[in-house]
Amino acid sequence: MSTASSVTSPADPMPVAPPDPVLPSGFRWGTATAAAQIEGAAETDGRGPSIWDIFATEPGRIRGGHTPAVACDHYHRSADDVRDLAQLGIDEYRFSISWSRVLPEGRGTVNQRGMDFYSRLVDELLTAGIRPVPTLYHWDLPQALQSAGGWLERSTSDALADYAAIMVDALGDRVHQWWTLNEMNVHTLYGHALTDHAPALGMGLDCMPVAHNLLRAHGLAVHAIRAAGDHHEVGVVQQHFPVHPASDSPEDVEAADLFRILTNWTFADPVLAGRYPDDFVAELVATSAGLTAGQLEDDLGVMSEPLDHYGVNYYEPTVIEAPKPGKDYSGILEVDFPADMPFSPVRIEGVERTDFDWPVVPSGLTEILRTLHERYPGLPPVTITENGCSYDDGPGPDGAVHDVRRIDYLRAHLTAVSEAIAAGVDVRGYYVWSAMDNFEWAAGYGERFGLVHVDFDTLQRTRKNSWYWYRDLIDRVRHSR
Ligand code: FCB
Repeated sequence: MSTASSVTSPADPMPVAPPDPVLPSGFRWGTATAAAQIEGAAETDGRGPSIWDIFATEPGRIRGGHTPAVACDHYHRSADDVRDLAQLGIDEYRFSISWSRVLPEGRGTVNQRGMDFYSRLVDELLTAGIRPVPTLYHWDLPQALQSAGGWLERSTSDALADYAAIMVDALGDRVHQWWTLNEMNVHTLYGHALTDHAPALGMGLDCMPVAHNLLRAHGLAVHAIRAAGDHHEVGVVQQHFPVHPASDSPEDVEAADLFRILTNWTFADPVLAGRYPDDFVAELVATSAGLTAGQLEDDLGVMSEPLDHYGVNYYEPTVIEAPKPGKDYSGILEVDFPADMPFSPVRIEGVERTDFDWPVVPSGLTEILRTLHERYPGLPPVTITENGCSYDDGPGPDGAVHDVRRIDYLRAHLTAVSEAIAAGVDVRGYYVWSAMDNFEWAAGYGERFGLVHVDFDTLQRTRKNSWYWYRDLIDRVRHSR
């Protein structure tokens, strides 16, 4: 006797699409970019040079000798780029403002033509139904301020606060959400302790005043934005990642602890808890910046102004060991540490890697979000302000960009976010890094993080398959219940 249950059907030849990450329908979707990475027009309409323009002229600094002078030429193509964002269906767009476009000398007279560009961009975004969420500072200090001492100078924090007030005054009638600074840790360590980023000071731990002045600039900027009215929301963008010791040995554990403190907590504790993580760091800062205990305390008060949002950028975890004499640690991370540092990175094995050779570890995002939630009882609502991957896929013979690996990466990391939410972390939104391929700092145009492919010879834009996937995902989640 035949029954329905005895009927067999041939195996489904179509692969089953993996399930969507489970996210709330009100989750805020976005993409992120930074001025120096996309705008180009380095000398147009009265813009002054930034430290990245100067750094790029120095031989050997940037892979391929590339410079940010043209980048994606977004300065002249913003209307088209915003149209693309509108069709993607995002809620928010995180871009950064080039300080030296608005204030070519870093302070003093406003360059109105530069300001007009941002005013136009904001209008274009609002017309497209996208909330503009600018970052005031994404590593591109006006060279004029660098020549006067840059972030080693306390007065650079005050200059940033004045610039913040100018921006809120000019755009605050239409922009109501702000990010102060991007990744103070990477800027301090890569650009000031090491020489991999501008301004390439290579000062080792003597660069700690830079960390302090950046943190103080953040606090002063929060204050300037708040002074413009209660309707303004403000947050900071920090890069966070889990740090694990390579073994249980006390030496490795100690090395990992120190690395974690210097890369994560030195930049988060002042903002979220009004303290430096331990006496060692507090003393290092006070001594190198020439501050009394009282001044340090006052500055920590400035740095810890309450925030409406906390931005987390996540790319990869780090495994650290105590350096083993004679072992070669070069090429494990994107930057090499001087041999006399008390910690060394260990290559993470057994995981996929992006074309930038960064390990793909989505669970690290859940882990760091849970750690932040536990460490800071008053953690403001979190936005993932950057997450993404470099894969070198370009248009194939059919004209399409089949960047399957990016889709897998984004799906896995959004699932990691959903797991953090299920564990109680208040994550409200997610921005893909990046809206389009762009100038990837010391790697030049060689690393492609975009949802949109950019041909850097013709500046032609081509949507990648991940762009369509992200658009459809946003739509499905938005209409889920
Ligand atoms: C982050 C930067 C961003 C981009 C990504 C790949 O550290 O904030 O500008 O370069 O890395």
